[in-house]
Amino acid sequence: PPLIITIDGPGASGKSSVARRIAQALEVPYVSSGLLYRGVAYQVLRHGVDPDDETAILRLLEAHPVRLVPNTHGNRVLAGGEDLTPHLHTAEVDAVVSAVARHPRVRAYVNERLREVPPPFVVEGRDMGTAVFPHAPYKFYLTASPAVRARRRARERADDVAAIEKMLRLRDERDAKQSKPAEDAQVIDTSELTLDQVVGAIMRFLPA
Ligand code: C5P
Repeated sequence: PPLIITIDGPGASGKSSVARRIAQALEVPYVSSGLLYRGVAYQVLRHGVDPDDETAILRLLEAHPVRLVPNTHGNRVLAGGEDLTPHLHTAEVDAVVSAVARHPRVRAYVNERLREVPPPFVVEGRDMGTAVFPHAPYKFYLTASPAVRARRRARERADDVAAIEKMLRLRDERDAKQSKPAEDAQVIDTSELTLDQVVGAIMRFLPA
């Protein structure tokens, strides 16, 4: 089967840093599905579309398609000629992205974009090993306690840890339906592990 490595887990579980490192080690592209959802959410905010209106969001995506540019070091999300990437990791996008991502047709749109990417690659998200790439030969699911995740995220956001933990728990709840380990995924609790240790634990499962 084509080499696809899926790394799923909740927000701030370390999946993007880990996925990037694995991709670099294997010299294959890294693909962030969350960034695509963030791109859609950003467009919804900017164009004043109701996040609960699935049909309106699909119409928006038809008029302004979003596109993922995967590479080993980081991903970009483009809409037309515009690079949305610098606007996607903000509290405003965090607050609305789960509502946008819960619509089946939005998920189908994102999944189509992801399946256009030619393997090999490392892909991270919530449902990469379950819904999107069920036949991937290597699957991982990272977990960590909400407190640990909030502390990690606090290094990237201006808000205080308590506010971040609250938002993470809220997103966990809203994302719960599409965030489960695949039955054949290796589950790794990263709470007590460094980034290097998590990368090492995953590399042991991969072909040399
Ligand atoms: O991974 P990240 O935290 O950037 O994802 C942002 C949001 O996108 C998640 O909170 C979730 O609502 C949505 N998402 C999803 N399915 C994925 C990846 C992300 O629903 N595979």
